[in-house]
Amino acid sequence: MEFSVKSGSPEKQRSACIVVGVYEPRRLSPIGEQLDQISEGYISNLLRRGDLEGKPGQTLLLHHVPNVLSERVLLVGCGKERELDDKQYKQIISKTINTLNETGAMEAVCFLTEQHVKGRDTYWKVRQAVETTQDCLYTFNELKSKKSDPRRPLRKIVFNVPTRRELTIGESAIEHGLAIASGAKLCKDVANMPPNICNPRYLGEQAKSLETEFDKVTVNLVGEKEMEELGMHSYLAVGRGSANESVMSVIHYNGGVEDAAPIVLVGKGLTFDSGGISIKPGEGMDEMKYDMGGAAGVIGTMRSIAEMNLPINVIGVLAGCENMPGSNAYRPGDILTTMSGQTVEVLNTDAEGRLVLCDALTYVEAFDPDTVIDVATLTGACIIALGAHATGMLSNHNPLAHDLLKAGEQSGDRAWQLPLWDDYHEQLDSPFADFTNLGGRAAGTITAACFLSKFTKKYNWAHLDIAGTAWRSGGKNKGATGRPVPMLTQYLINRAGVSENPQD
Ligand code: BES
Ligand code: MN
Ligand code: ZN
Repeated sequence: MEFSVKSGSPEKQRSACIVVGVYEPRRLSPIGEQLDQISEGYISNLLRRGDLEGKPGQTLLLHHVPNVLSERVLLVGCGKERELDDKQYKQIISKTINTLNETGAMEAVCFLTEQHVKGRDTYWKVRQAVETTQDCLYTFNELKSKKSDPRRPLRKIVFNVPTRRELTIGESAIEHGLAIASGAKLCKDVANMPPNICNPRYLGEQAKSLETEFDKVTVNLVGEKEMEELGMHSYLAVGRGSANESVMSVIHYNGGVEDAAPIVLVGKGLTFDSGGISIKPGEGMDEMKYDMGGAAGVIGTMRSIAEMNLPINVIGVLAGCENMPGSNAYRPGDILTTMSGQTVEVLNTDAEGRLVLCDALTYVEAFDPDTVIDVATLTGACIIALGAHATGMLSNHNPLAHDLLKAGEQSGDRAWQLPLWDDYHEQLDSPFADFTNLGGRAAGTITAACFLSKFTKKYNWAHLDIAGTAWRSGGKNKGATGRPVPMLTQYLINRAGVSENPQD
């Protein structure tokens, strides 16, 4: 899809379709008024007859509107003026794209980016429009034997901005939006890939292809032999029941000055989580192919920042592993020695994510990181607490927590903080080892983060639990969401000090 920005009036556009907003009840936006005037009241007449109320997401496609140069006019309901919020804005953009895709129009000029959205500026509106469009058009049909694509797909979309002064801001919004959408697409592709193809080695190959594509990216893969030498016995134990070798992919992006301490992202990469010996129930177990959603989010973010060429150093770690039962599998009762030297009593082999992450988190100490953020589909409890709307966030450093919450608000990919108080640690007490891997039913997301916090004392750290946000369950809509690529990329844009306006 091709995107551009323009600043012009609707009557001068010669396009296959122009898209303008209508407010509730039946009120034209200022742009709509201009069109109405040159069409001598054609549009307001239609509204008066009740053809479009203006409710958010309603649409009305018009052909050959008198005196209008464009072939079609698409009216889109925007709800009550001044009440349009983030969620509704994204909804009306999605609706617009889906409608355009069903008409024969292959290009369109969209004026919805001029609509007032509460607390948001032109940069945000254009960037979100790009991200939402790409998300709408996303399909994963590589593995279907027959593909069905629209006959005349939408190819080109122009977003209008109110003044010529805002053109450069609009252009930078498109550039950022495209980079984030491209990272989110990689995240979705890798996450949707079935577990018989997407195994830990496959994650490594995906990482390697970033190395091929970008000069500033180098990748090294850590296999089981090297993990053995490093003493990563907890990570190794989880993968032992699987015929697929555990592989930890380490992606270096060197965009900053050579000696600047890196920001490290660590993604849980369970390419399938059967639960192991503490096996999961059968229903919905296929969705545990998404248990590598953290790794997918990390590789996607690495792609976004490489495309944006951010002036900062970032290391992305994909902790690839498969949790399977088998005669060689680890068991409840086992006591493991982690890379940190701390010992863990395994009470449930389904609490495996923390056992993989703890060693990856110790491994990254060697990079002398500025900040470490891990991303994981870690606990079902997080879905109970926050549902599918917010990512769970816990941190040992308040300024970092604050920065991540802010990045979530800015990007529309939000997180919510849970406490990481000492009070919760006793739920992990063990009579036989330093602690257990199981905190019981109460506060499952917090006790999982408490477990991780025992391995992150040497640096500023935050944990993102994306169990509820990484994919949509069941039905026709099932699939990876691309989260938290927008939040993480926004955090890194902010850390790099990159401005929305290249002229600043
Ligand atoms: N990957 C799961 C968490 C999960 C479950 C994420 C469902 C998204 C949807 C994780 O490895 C797991 O099994 N966690 C257990 C932990 C428990 C055994 C302490 C859980 O949440 O039930
Ligand atoms: Mn599990
Ligand atoms: Zn898991």
